[in-house]
Amino acid sequence: MEHWKSYEALLQQNREWVAKRNNEDPHFFKRLANQQRPKFLWIGCSDSRVPANQITGTDPGEVFVHRNIANMVIHTDMNMLSVLDYAVNILEVKHVIVCGHYGCGGIRAALDNNQYGIIDNWIRHIKDVYLMYREELEKIKNIHERENALVEYNVIEQVLDLSQTSIIQNSWQKRGGPWIHGWVYDVADGLIKDMEVSMKDYSTLPSIYKLKPR
Ligand code: CO
Repeated sequence: MEHWKSYEALLQQNREWVAKRNNEDPHFFKRLANQQRPKFLWIGCSDSRVPANQITGTDPGEVFVHRNIANMVIHTDMNMLSVLDYAVNILEVKHVIVCGHYGCGGIRAALDNNQYGIIDNWIRHIKDVYLMYREELEKIKNIHERENALVEYNVIEQVLDLSQTSIIQNSWQKRGGPWIHGWVYDVADGLIKDMEVSMKDYSTLPSIYKLKPR
């Protein structure tokens, strides 16, 4: 049986990590102490297998991170909007990356009809994405392949949702950035696939979504 004090290992590992870092670079923590200047905002899934820094080989200070179940960009989510506004307007990140992942439990749950609790209301948004791509998805008979396809379509839709926020559109008008990107991480081999749906302006958006400068 797992020792109930297993959390203590994390504190011990933290001290070991600090010692190792200081050994490699004695100024590492001093440099980070005063400010952060990340170039990237990461919007990823809460899944424990998809840690933003580790899978991109980045250090503390390089990526501003927001994670929720199934890496959703929901326009009424105050938490996401606050992170996005701060990252775009105060930190002035150069890139916003929405990163989904194959094998996502949120996506899998969206494909069945079971109840899981409060989360059903969150996952409802993924069902909306399913409906947008229903024809393509229902052609795929293998359930795992269908799931993976929905992972990809969901990332594409979240990038579009980002592009439709007033935060991103005002920033594009003001400073020509950030670029926004859609990626999918494969938990089975560790590789990231670029969905090649990057946007840096709203020229490709249907006009109904385009906001005039204020
Ligand atoms: Co997930």
